[in-house]
Amino acid sequence: MSSSYIISIDGPAASGKSTVARKLAEKLNITYLSSGSVYRAITYVCLSKNIKPSDENLKDFINTQSFNIEHGKVFVNNQDYSKFLSLPETENAVSSYASLACVREFALTLLRDVAKHESIIMDGRDIGSVVFPNATNKFFLTASQEVRAKRRYDEFCKNHPNEKINLDNILAEIIKRDDMDRKRELSPLIVAENAILIDNSKLNIEETIQAIYNSLHKKTGEA
Ligand code: CDP
Ligand code: CDP
Repeated sequence: MSSSYIISIDGPAASGKSTVARKLAEKLNITYLSSGSVYRAITYVCLSKNIKPSDENLKDFINTQSFNIEHGKVFVNNQDYSKFLSLPETENAVSSYASLACVREFALTLLRDVAKHESIIMDGRDIGSVVFPNATNKFFLTASQEVRAKRRYDEFCKNHPNEKINLDNILAEIIKRDDMDRKRELSPLIVAENAILIDNSKLNIEETIQAIYNSLHKKTGEA
């Protein structure tokens, strides 16, 4: 593909968005950004100052924080926030903060800025529907809730071999987050207009990437 372009990959938790998007970005030699990392960073900075979603000062507070995105990483007040983004407290609270109008407005400006000067693959919930409705290519990845819960379970067991975790609890968390993201009033998780839906319950990562890659080429007419 030539000139600057945007590929959006939306979908629920553990549908493989970030793994697939990161690998595809490497293959296409363009930047990858997880929009979820912006929502997670906002969540963590609020939690760290004990600002609850219901706090009337939340909007003013986030507007006084300095957010920068460099090479797909989020910095808040010049601190790399990567290590805070997957903490359980961040993960459990993020959907509540992400449903607020002031948080979405703040994130939208940051996310649109990133794509002003470069080609990008961005994943999230509303990238093809709200952030970049004119994206060059739009995808919606999904898989059954059971498959997604098992993926998160396997991931946790691999990363924390000495800790115990309950698959049913993970499934319950996934169901709860899906529900909040789909039913919220602002920018709910939907399949964007013109998005290609890929259910990868039975596909591995490479097969999912190949399915996306094939339709990119089909659309641009390249061999
Ligand atoms: O990787 P996973 O799908 O579990 O999470 P994520 O993409 O980091 O998103 C975390 C949460 O942020 C989601 O459950 C949404 O509540 C919120 N989010 C959003 O509202 N809009 C986006 N574009 C991206 C994330
Ligand atoms: O970003 P998102 O929450 O949508 O998912 P992810 O973090 O990319 O994927 C969650 C886990 O599922 C990772 O450990 C992936 O390696 C795994 N996965 C998989 O086994 N098969 C797929 N087709 C997609 C993801």
